[in-house]
Amino acid sequence: MTERFIVGITGASGTIYGVRLLQALLACSCEIHLIVSDMGAKVASHDLCLPEEGIENALASLAAGGSAPGRIMLHNNRDMFAPVASGSFQVRGMAVIPCSMKTMAAVASGYTSGLLERAADVTLKERRTLVLVPRETPLSRVHLKNMLAAQEAGAIILPASPAFYHHPETVDDLVDFVVERVMDTLGVPMPRARRWGTQGRKG
Ligand SMILES: Cc1cc2nc3c(=O)[nH]c(=O)nc-3n(C[C@H](O)[C@H](O)[C@H](O)COP(=O)(O)O)c2cc1C
Repeated sequence: MTERFIVGITGASGTIYGVRLLQALLACSCEIHLIVSDMGAKVASHDLCLPEEGIENALASLAAGGSAPGRIMLHNNRDMFAPVASGSFQVRGMAVIPCSMKTMAAVASGYTSGLLERAADVTLKERRTLVLVPRETPLSRVHLKNMLAAQEAGAIILPASPAFYHHPETVDDLVDFVVERVMDTLGVPMPRARRWGTQGRKG
């Protein structure tokens, strides 16, 4: 059976992490429901030097390597009637990547002002895997408390914090290290993921 996941992209810098996760999930034949927050669209446009108009489609087609993003379903963040707003819609899990401190606060408090936050809230209440990939530095006490609250509620906090023991040579190497850990956490391990103690793949 095809695995189904929700991917949320918020307004933290590092849209590329989200795009590479979409690529990795597509490569594993997963069905993806993509939600981009309003600020996620603006920051994606800035980070990747793409027009803001139609950015969700552009991200999906970037992930699909320029071809039709067949298994990526796009949802408007204001569409609270979307299937992913309900726990009765079966998904394996959700990743918010990158995850802003604002969305982290929403997850920690259960205050859902858009579809992305609602989907994360539903993922928690259904006790499905929710991976949050924060990107902020330095972290305030408020950020840290929200991360702890989200973790205590069941989320997995997986910071965009690549290691260097695999001798990265490119930005993609650094990004993919984080994406491989997200894939592991979602339970869809990549066959060629770099792992300590194995040869792993290079590049
Ligand atoms: C260029 C740019 C980069 C940003 N980077 C970050 C970031 O790395 N982490 C973060 O928490 N917020 C960052 N922000 C601020 C968020 O976009 C802002 O808090 C926004 O309200 C998040 O909304 P969202 O979580 O609904 O996407 C950035 C804003 C801009 C304009």
